[in-house]
Parts: sequence; structure tokens; C-alpha cells
Amino acid sequence: MSQLLEVQFASLSPAPTGTLVLLAAQELALAPTARGLDERMKGALSKAARAADFTGKAKTAIEILAPTGIDAPRLLLLGTGKAAKELDRLLLGGFAFAQISARKGETASIIAEPADLGEASAEVFAADLALGAVLRSYTFKKYRTRKADEGAEEEPREEPRKLIIQCAKPDAAAKAFAARKAVAEGAFLARDLVNEPANMLGPVEFAERMRDLSRTGLEIEVLDEDQLAALKMGALLAVGQGSERPSRVVVLQWHGAKSKRAKTLCFVGKGVCFDTGGISMKPAGGMEDMKGDMGGAACVAGLMLALATRKAAVNAVGLIGLTENMPSGKAQRPGDIITSMSGQTIEVLNTDAEGRLVLADVLWYAQERFKPRFIVDLATLTGAIIVALGKEYAGLFSNDDRLAAELAAAGEATGEKVWRMPLGKAYDKLIDSKNADMKNIGGRHAGAITGAQFVQRFIKDTPWAHLDVAGTAMDSSRNDINPSWASGWGVRLLDRLISDSYEKAEK
Ligand code: BES
Ligand code: MN
Ligand code: ZN
Repeated sequence: MSQLLEVQFASLSPAPTGTLVLLAAQELALAPTARGLDERMKGALSKAARAADFTGKAKTAIEILAPTGIDAPRLLLLGTGKAAKELDRLLLGGFAFAQISARKGETASIIAEPADLGEASAEVFAADLALGAVLRSYTFKKYRTRKADEGAEEEPREEPRKLIIQCAKPDAAAKAFAARKAVAEGAFLARDLVNEPANMLGPVEFAERMRDLSRTGLEIEVLDEDQLAALKMGALLAVGQGSERPSRVVVLQWHGAKSKRAKTLCFVGKGVCFDTGGISMKPAGGMEDMKGDMGGAACVAGLMLALATRKAAVNAVGLIGLTENMPSGKAQRPGDIITSMSGQTIEVLNTDAEGRLVLADVLWYAQERFKPRFIVDLATLTGAIIVALGKEYAGLFSNDDRLAAELAAAGEATGEKVWRMPLGKAYDKLIDSKNADMKNIGGRHAGAITGAQFVQRFIKDTPWAHLDVAGTAMDSSRNDINPSWASGWGVRLLDRLISDSYEKAEK
């Protein structure tokens, strides 16, 4: 997995080793430590700020090289704006990392002392800043071998390796950071899996990587094609039958609940390692993006890693359906009728609507085996959700208002936002088929909704939410905490759903 940036917490007093970062709130409000340093510099800091019209607005910065009176090669003064909310603190940490890494030096210290803490404690402020910096530090360069002077596209600069966060309560901050670090590790795993090209990461390789997670205390099972056939997962297997590479289903279990009666929380991910469309093949332009068609599965993997690493007080299961959608002499054809594990038959009118076939069987299996308290599935399911919502929100479909509201709240808190879309009988009718129980496409209109309706036909009476992450899992809008094509979207969202709404209750 991509290495996490090393973060250390220290008190406010020690002299910095590399770049020194200070914070200023609006109207150039400085906290005591920064004010003290300004005095040591005989006011040069505030003078420079005024000269640069720097007022402390968010996402602004000034730099002072070789400041007199201070033992640091450079000083950065960052504007925090109000930074009232948790997400503001994360974004500030991300912005700080970007400012640091744009300049020379392997280490940097941030004086994490805002002029106004707002609702946060000193340790939460520092830990949030650290998480934001770590999330921003992600890079995926494992396949790049050439250095800048040999003509690579971007200049590979020395990335900062260590970040020291100086704050009032370093021990408490380090403690608060531990759980956040677990979440960052989950997001990094999800990003890595999505960035990985499909020649390197097929269903078997993905499953093997999941086995490695058993070191964290997760219980991992990998079901092979014989086992999937014995379970009658005819829909999932039909998607994979055109590929030389066999399908897999992986079950990742975390047992962390204190109570024996705690019901399992289930997370299901679409893991199509590459989606050519099959016989209903996609056009060539942009098809390379379909290496990311396992973004739902990657999120579930990242979430499970985060839960195990931070020892979350819940019982949670992640299930991922891994397969590859390829055209070949063995591939399924438009018009084929297949039988899902639920017994319901499906007329496959478009082999490119394959994600819902994968979900159908894995969702059915999840309910039969775990009788969960709820199921959340994540899938890069439809291009139509990108038409509807763009890349800012994932589509949320649910049969349960409470679960939907909890997800929406977690989305606002983490910035991984969801927008609820409708479900209903009239939409459901659109996937009725003359020849089978249903067809796998609904026609030109409401493509994301008919996709969700299809998925819902495999939900019993379990509270369920479906997240269509086609627009957010990959190539989503870059921001101060997501520099990558693969965003790792959903790991922070679902971790938050659990910690806010399920962990306390289950303790
Ligand atoms: N994996 C795609 C959806 C997708 C599109 C994800 C763009 C990410 C970016 C999915 O399997 C698919 O091909 N869906 C079809 C469904 C259609 C045939 C009903 C689509 O959206 O065109
Ligand atoms: Mn497809
Ligand atoms: Zn797909």
C-alpha cells in the first residue's frame, strides 16, 4: 500500500527543523505562539503580511525566506479563515501540505494553534489538520521509473516525508489521530486499488490482496467459482464468463461489538476489475477509466481496513463481488436469460449493464447469510448518475428514511456528499420483461433509477441504501484533501456513519 506520510505531534515550544508553518485567522489574528515568533522577528511577520495584503483568508499564504531571529530556512503563514467546521480543518491541513510540498525540504512543522478554536479542542484541531495533510499527501507513482532529467512528464520533487504538528496537547492529539490515521489508511488502500491498472489487478489479485488484510484482525474468506456455482450465483458468474480470469467473492468480517446481540452491518461493493461492456461493447474513447469499475469494492475494502485498524466497536461485514466483463466466444450475449441466486430470472438485454448482476447475487447472499441490521451497497453503476449529479454528490437510493438521513448527515460532515434519488413502482415497471422476471436495462430515461430499481429487486425487507458512485469514486473533483484520480470516496463517509450512528449504541 502507498506509504502514509509520517506525522509526529510535539509541544508548541521546540525549535522547528524544516519549513515552519504558522496560522493566521481573518484580520490577521495570531495565536500566542505565532505572536511570540512575530515579536522575535521584530514584527517582520505582520509587516510582510500587510505588505502582501495577506489578511488570513482561507486558502491564502505568504512565505518568508530565512527569517531573522528564527532557526528555520523558511516560514509560511497560512490563512485559516473561520475554519469553524471539521471539514474546514481537514481542508486546511490539506492546503498546508500542498504549500509545504511545493517547496524544498523533507520535514516541516506546523504550529497548530489557531487564533480561535471554535467548537474544537486543541487536540482535535491538531488531529484534523494532520488527517487533512495525510489525505493530501497521497501519490500513485509505483509504475514510474524515469526521473525528471530523463524527460518524465512532471518534475518529481522530493516529497516531504515527515510532518511535525506542534500543539498544546501533543499526547492527546496523537491519541485522537490514531483513529483518523486508520481511516486514512483505508482511503489510501481504496485509492491504490482503483488506481491499479487491470492487467495488474484482476479478480484473483484483488482477492489475494484482501487475504493480506487478515493481519489486521479481519476474518477473510475467498469464494472461488466452484463455490459461487454451488451457491447458484448465476448472475455474477454470467458477467465473468467471457473472461479468461475467474470471478471471486470476498467476505471480510470484523467482530468488534461488545454486545453478543449486536446485529451485523453489511457493506457490499461492485468489483468489476475491468468493464469493456462485454458483447455490448463500450466505445474506445475513455474506456481505460473502466479499470476503476471496482471503486465500490475498493471502498468496502478500505472501510473494513479502517474499522479493524481502529478497532471499531461494531460487527461489520464487507462483501465484494469481483469479476471482469470481457467479450469472447464464451461471453454472455444480449438476450440471454440467466438465473440469479435468488431464483429470479433476468433477461440480459445489454451486457454492459453488468454491475447490477454482480450486486444481485452478492446482496442476496449477504442477506441470507448475515441477516444484517442494514446493507449499504456501493457501485460505479451508471453513467446516468453522472449526468444527473455530476461529480460532487453520489446518488443515494434507499428504502429506509432513517438510514438515508444518517448517510446524508455523514456526507455533510465528511464532504463525501450524497443526494437522495427517488425509487417507486412506476420506475420499477420499466424493468419488467416479457421473457423473464426482469430485464437488466430500463430504456432511455432515468438510467440511474432503473439501475437502483433492479438492485432493489434483490433486497428483502432489510434496511438498504444503494450508493451510485460512478461520478465520485474515480476522476471526481480534486480538492485540498483529494489529489488523486482515485478518490477513495466513501471510506470516510461510511466510517462516519458507523461512528456517529452505530458504534455508541452497540457498545
Ligand atoms: N461501469 C459502468 C458505469 C460507469 C460509467 C461507471 C462511467 C463510471 C463511469 C456500468 O457498468 C455501465 O456500463 N452502465 C451502463 C448501463 C446501461 C447499459 C444501462 C451505462 O451507464 O451506460
Ligand atoms: Mn458496464
Ligand atoms: Zn460497470
